[in-house]
Amino acid sequence: MKIISFHSYKGGTGKTHLSANLATILARKGFKTAILDLDFRGPNLQTLCGIESEVTINDLLFDPDLTGQDILVSFEDQYKIPLFAAFASTDFRKMGDIVRADKKQRQRSLKRILRLRDELSENGFDYTIIDTSPGVQMESIDGLVISDATCLVLKADDFDISGTKSMVTQLYSLLDSKNYVVLNRVVAETCPPEEGVWSSADLKLVEKFEKTIKDEMRMDVITSIPCFCEVAREGSRNIFSLKHPEHPFSQYIEKLGNALLKGL
Ligand SMILES: Nc1ncnc2c1ncn2[C@@H]1O[C@H](COP(=O)(O)OP(=O)(O)OP(=O)(O)O)[C@@H](O)[C@H]1O
Ligand SMILES: [Mg+2]
Repeated sequence: MKIISFHSYKGGTGKTHLSANLATILARKGFKTAILDLDFRGPNLQTLCGIESEVTINDLLFDPDLTGQDILVSFEDQYKIPLFAAFASTDFRKMGDIVRADKKQRQRSLKRILRLRDELSENGFDYTIIDTSPGVQMESIDGLVISDATCLVLKADDFDISGTKSMVTQLYSLLDSKNYVVLNRVVAETCPPEEGVWSSADLKLVEKFEKTIKDEMRMDVITSIPCFCEVAREGSRNIFSLKHPEHPFSQYIEKLGNALLKGL
């Protein structure tokens, strides 16, 4: 089993959408895929999947008797693809328990995440996709540490670039995974770009950002994804590529998936 995580320095770059859409596209190819919501500080995956999950990863981290079987939700019947998800709790009390966890509990949490990874692998999962909180929260780092590939998601915005740069130097250089940058929500000259294809002016802008990232962070941009009004307009009510598999956004995610799989 291979693990791919999505992380960012700043919030709102598109981690949750990219995680859920990539997991869906991999499952649609027939790969048994799990998505884990490790964004305990601002969990959104339940909303995106239209689910209210009673038993969550938060419970697994605090209760030694729970296993992956107890927290995984299957979408096999609903979507006819081998897609599974484990959610972070939206209960404020449980979110607070994570924030207040002492060193001992944090060590227990990491052990339980590792046990969950082993359980998924033993149960024939091909891929696990991890959504994280922005910044350097311990739980996000746990997710990054167990990943084979990490996608650092950035908007083509100088605020994002300067903060991300220091995180890359101090954190990403310590990781064993293959680390890539995904530029997302790139605002094209004509927004959205026609048929999802960059104009020559857009291409210049994208190439400029890709070069800055290469020069300043020593990281490759694996995919640059335009800002699509249709994605924003859906209001995060569903997994976009499930509903619009032919849309250019879904095709960009497919391209991202192919590039990631090639590097694993
Ligand atoms: N390529 C895109 N084009 C247009 N809108 C997008 C695109 N990708 C994501 N969005 C929109 O950006 C917003 C933020 O996306 P998302 O919640 O996935 O970001 P996030 O990084 O997970 O945020 P947080 O750090 O708060 O968890 C959402 O409203 C989503 O619809
Ligand atoms: Mg998110």
